[in-house]
Amino acid sequence: AQKDSQVRLFPDQAKQSIPKEIYGQFAEHLGTCIYGGLWVGENSTIPNTGGYRNDVLQALKDLKIPVLRWPGGCFADEYHWMDGIGPKENRPRMVNNNWGGTVEDNSFGTHEFLNLCELLECEPYVSMNVGSGTVQETAQWVEYMTAEDGPMAKLRKQNGREKPWRVKYIGVGNESWGCGGNMRPEYYADLYRRYQTYCRNYNGNRLFKIASGSGEYDLHWTETMMKQARNQMDGLSLHYYTVAGWSGSKGSATDFTPEDYYWTMGKCLDIENCIKEHSAVMDKYDPKKRVALMVDEWGTWWDEEPGTVRGHLYQQNTMRDAFVAALSLNVFHKYTDRIKMANIAQIANVLQSMILTKDDKMVLTPSYYVFQMYNVHQDATYLPIEVQCENKQVRARMGQDGEQRTLPMLGATASKAQDGAVHISLSNVDLENSNEVTVDLSDLGMKSVAGRILTCKAITDKNTFEQPDVVKPADFKGAKLKNGKLTVKMPPMSIVALELW
Ligand code: AHR
Repeated sequence: AQKDSQVRLFPDQAKQSIPKEIYGQFAEHLGTCIYGGLWVGENSTIPNTGGYRNDVLQALKDLKIPVLRWPGGCFADEYHWMDGIGPKENRPRMVNNNWGGTVEDNSFGTHEFLNLCELLECEPYVSMNVGSGTVQETAQWVEYMTAEDGPMAKLRKQNGREKPWRVKYIGVGNESWGCGGNMRPEYYADLYRRYQTYCRNYNGNRLFKIASGSGEYDLHWTETMMKQARNQMDGLSLHYYTVAGWSGSKGSATDFTPEDYYWTMGKCLDIENCIKEHSAVMDKYDPKKRVALMVDEWGTWWDEEPGTVRGHLYQQNTMRDAFVAALSLNVFHKYTDRIKMANIAQIANVLQSMILTKDDKMVLTPSYYVFQMYNVHQDATYLPIEVQCENKQVRARMGQDGEQRTLPMLGATASKAQDGAVHISLSNVDLENSNEVTVDLSDLGMKSVAGRILTCKAITDKNTFEQPDVVKPADFKGAKLKNGKLTVKMPPMSIVALELW
């Protein structure tokens, strides 16, 4: 059947821009994200440029990544950066205790990460080790990366890099309530204040300091950090995963029921409420919104693919994940008065990846294509939007009847780019019904429309190494613009990105 929806834009109320950093990515030393995914080393038979895989490098350039977070995650609080500099043959090996006990050779370290950011023309976001590292180690790392002169700069130069890098974002600890040290917020707030003191601004490099924040709804953590350390921070993080729970099965990434799918949509959209609650706490201490909320980990978390290494968090990615990407980005766009960055977890081969690799093969996931279709919103002016559509009652707990949530069947966001183009992105999350969406654009005076669509035959559709192009954007001819009224005929399970002039 066909459903009808109405969308209204409020260009007269437009005042915020969507920071490009909302489209941030995250690369942790975890499974094959770094080793095998981004980095194969200069001597690999896989085509590479200075050790970075060519195929992945090109795909990431096309994505216009604004910021890349590294080296963790949980890994960050066990990482000793000095083990990852200097001649590769002298670098000690290390056990990645967080993620499967894999032994790493430290061939990907500070130089390899910061040079990658330069190649991708993105801002680096470096997570410092507060859990098991010293204040001195942290201070020296900042000096090594950003000072022009001094003992650490000398060491960097000896290791082949003359000029300092530009490093804006640093994280001072990660999940300090959990893998980052199992601390109480009262204790961590003081540690945060202490560690960040010695992260200096060298030679005009201005650090943006981010404190470790809550996982999901830990409002006490946010409250304590705001009360005790707000004057020492530029940002406070928030981690929110679309996950069924932290014990037992998280559900298959590829084999799921319509109920599981609708649960996923509801759970992912609940991030809006989570953001509102943390923002309300932050508003109490920081009504002018100086401290940013940084959603520096988000995305889907399913069971690992059968047959893959335990602890490597390798999961497939279907059209369901694409919807999670689209609906989450819609939410972030709306709260950019407080949210200044978001980093999907993770960039390759881990959780909700953009890219999957296997030996010399690479596939782009449905989530990759959402980021590609949506990147027109980076640094554009957000256009407030109102959606009237059908709602569905869906399960609040995966696989369980009982508590329900209300799920809108249409997701929408819009922005105006600096060159004057208006972009509207729509998601028909309905598995069965098409949706005819009308948008009143009379206030904007647009004359033409063009579009792309990402859709599928089954919601479980995915791209594999054998069939890499099952889910892929195509030209969309279902949008018509007449006398300032836009009509969009969306098939079930479709994401449409429109550009209007
Ligand atoms: O992204 C995977 C892990 O999830 C990160 O290492 C950690 O910060 C979070 O628990």
